[in-house]
Amino acid sequence: MSELKRLAGEKAIEFVEDGSVVGVGTGSTVAYFIEALGRIRDRIAGAVSSSEQSTRQLKSLGIEVLDLNAVGPLRLYVDGADECDPHRRLIKGGGAALTREKIIAQASDRFICIIDPAKQVPVLGRFPLPVEVIPMARSLVAREILAITGGQPVWREGVVTDNGNWVLDVHGLQIVDPVVMEERLNQIPGVVSVGLFARRPADVVIVGGEPPQVLR
Ligand code: A5P
Repeated sequence: MSELKRLAGEKAIEFVEDGSVVGVGTGSTVAYFIEALGRIRDRIAGAVSSSEQSTRQLKSLGIEVLDLNAVGPLRLYVDGADECDPHRRLIKGGGAALTREKIIAQASDRFICIIDPAKQVPVLGRFPLPVEVIPMARSLVAREILAITGGQPVWREGVVTDNGNWVLDVHGLQIVDPVVMEERLNQIPGVVSVGLFARRPADVVIVGGEPPQVLR
């Protein structure tokens, strides 16, 4: 599996433009992308990072980590996913970095998602859907999610996001209309963000393999 993740991560380097600031996601697939980015660090102007974990790896390779507010819109964002459907809509947040990932994806002209083939599904929902919540709203949000979706929210106990919030993982969903689901869950007071990337899907998906598949 990690070989397929490496192949996807390294292929994404071909999309990096010289002199640009690159948006960088989080996770084990992205770790291979960051490693490859380290090899071309003199060609880029720096990175905007979606997590403390990625920030540490970027800095250890001598890549400058910049504030999104200071650099404005980005040309490119590269990130992994937990699930990907045929329309390049995603479930993300298995690593609890969904909110910052969503911010950077929205701020980028192009979002390239790097996955291994096991992440491809016909319908999203087999992977429990992560929802970041303000801690005091945890049980309110859980009740609302149950009422709206019929899915079972489970508190990811012990996990605190980089933003100081908590995560609910919603089990037992079959997300046939991810755009509607994303919009409805976003409206529950106390929800910070939903790990559905449907309103802003990936523009390109790279599936690790020999050779990697590029889906547009
Ligand atoms: C992080 O919060 C997630 O969105 C990751 O992008 C996702 O979990 C994919 O992780 P792997 O690349 O480790 O499978």
